[in-house]
Parts: sequence; structure tokens; C-alpha cells
Amino acid sequence: MSKKEKLIENIARLKKEKNAIILAHYYQVAEVQDIADFVGDSLVLAQWAAKTTADIIVLCGVHFMGETAKILSPEKRVFIPDMEAGCSLADSCPADTFEAFVNAHPDHTVISYVNTTAAVKALTDIVVTSTNAKFIVDSLPKDEKIIFGPDKNLGAYINRLTGRNMLLWNGGCHVHERFSIERIKELKKLYPSALILAHPECPDPLLKMADHVGSTTSLLQFATRSHHDQFIVVTEPGILHQMRLVNPGKEFIPAPPEDVDHVYNECSYMKLSTLEKVYRCLENESPEIFVDEAVRVKAVKPIKRMLEISAKHGL
Ligand code: 13P
Ligand code: SF4
Repeated sequence: MSKKEKLIENIARLKKEKNAIILAHYYQVAEVQDIADFVGDSLVLAQWAAKTTADIIVLCGVHFMGETAKILSPEKRVFIPDMEAGCSLADSCPADTFEAFVNAHPDHTVISYVNTTAAVKALTDIVVTSTNAKFIVDSLPKDEKIIFGPDKNLGAYINRLTGRNMLLWNGGCHVHERFSIERIKELKKLYPSALILAHPECPDPLLKMADHVGSTTSLLQFATRSHHDQFIVVTEPGILHQMRLVNPGKEFIPAPPEDVDHVYNECSYMKLSTLEKVYRCLENESPEIFVDEAVRVKAVKPIKRMLEISAKHGL
């Protein structure tokens, strides 16, 4: 038996013994996605964390995803494979400066993207993901004043879709901000019939070039339903694994970053999880996610509001 097979066997055994569930984001390495009970986007991972009957959740993703699971299911123990798995977008919104911004606009409703720390969520009225952001903004009265943070690109895109003028926090993701428009145009010349699929964390000029803009789930569903058979995918390339599994006859080309030494643009945080670390995480019950109870009690409200509005829209 190979080392990999042994790890997979041990993970399955520990999962059963400890009544654990493994949830993985689409940006995880393929072998981690393959051993997960569920693979999904940020919304799906939060929904699973809220409803699972498992005692232990191993969240193969980044820290804010583990925190969201713990906030929703405080009675469960939540682990992530590597505590260093942060998020540049969450880092672009420190809670103290965001609090000062919120306090400077007391008449505004605060909407925060799920890619934030628990402390930022505790300052928030409604959390959103890229799947439900438009529905949630649309559900508010037209004249409601809104702060949207931390992703300025997603915020600007939702402003454009909804005709709102939300006040945007100046944050961004180091992966989605660094795709090269020029290199994507060159790829398009090589694959003229390929459709461009882009995540809304990308800057507006790139979104305007795209044939479809959406969350990771939305990009996957669009490619699956499409009659086209070639796609240039402008998001973290981990999603290509599911795209190829579900659509074996179609071709998926990862979009290149500005850095010419790389052909695709990975999230180094997402790539910290490995099969070995998932195994050790289950075996040692570490590293564990903890959230201060006073923060959790505040942060759970805007997440639950998001889940309620999403459920109304069948999301
Ligand atoms: P999704 O919710 O679309 O999966 O996005 C999560 C993320 O981190 C994007 O960078
Ligand atoms: Fe955060 Fe960007 Fe990585 Fe997503 S891709 S986890 S937003 S750093």
C-alpha cells in the first residue's frame, strides 16, 4: 500500500471513530478535495457546518472558514489542517479600523463578505458570500445606506448590478487582483471560442471581459450547463479539479497572473492543507479553532441572517 493510500485509509478510520466530517473548499489541492465528505464554496461550507450532526468538523480551507463553522456550531470541535492558512482579503480589514469606519457612519447598515475575521463579523448586520451578495443587497430597501466590506471589487460589482451606491471598504484578495488582462487576451487569441469565467473578487475591467461572473459554485454550474467546451477560468485554479471531474469532455484553462514566471495563480493559504496534515489534524485533534464567546454571540447573528435570506432564495 502506498503512503497516500495508507493516509487515506487512516483518515477514513479516524473520521468514523471520532464521528468527524471533512468539509473542503474548491481551492484545496485535488487530493484533499477527494477525501472530503463535501466540497463547496463558502456558503455551502457554512450551511454544512450549521447542520451537521458530526462531533468534529475538519474544515479544509482557510482560518475564517473554520471560524464561521465554529460560530455556527459552538458545541462542535472545529479543526483546520494548518493554522497559518489565513486570507489576504480578511487581513485587509482589521477589526479596529473597520469599527472606526462603521462608527463614523452610524446611519449605515453594515454588510460584510464572509472573508472576514469573527471580530469584523461581530460589527456587521448581514454577512454575504459571492453566491448571495446580490440577493441580500436587493432584499434591503432601495434608499438604505450601506457599508460594504472588505472586498472593493465585489462591492463595486454589486453596486453595478443593483444600481446602489454602497460605501466600499478598500480591501482586496492578492490572488484575484493579480490576474493579467494582457495575458488573458493572449490566451483568448489561442482559444478564440473559449468562454471567460471570472470570480467577482477580480477588478472591474476583467469582469467586463468575462462571459460569466460568479462564485466558485456558479462558475462550476455555468461551465457544466454550457454547450461550449473550452473555458478560461479567472479564479484560483483549485476549482479546475471539480470542473474537470464533472465535465470530462471539456477543456478548462487557468488564467495567468501578472507574474510571468507563473502560468496560474494559486492561493498559497489554501494550498497549505495536505493529506498528511488532515490526518494529523484528526489524530491529534489540533490545530483547533476557538472564538471568544462574546464575539461569537454577536457574529452569529449576521451569519444566520445570511443563511435565512439565502434559504428564501433557494440558495
Ligand atoms: P467562494 O465563496 O466563491 O468559493 O469564494 C471564496 C473565496 O475565498 C474566494 O477567493
Ligand atoms: Fe482569501 Fe483570496 Fe485566498 Fe480566497 S483566494 S482565501 S479571498 S486570499
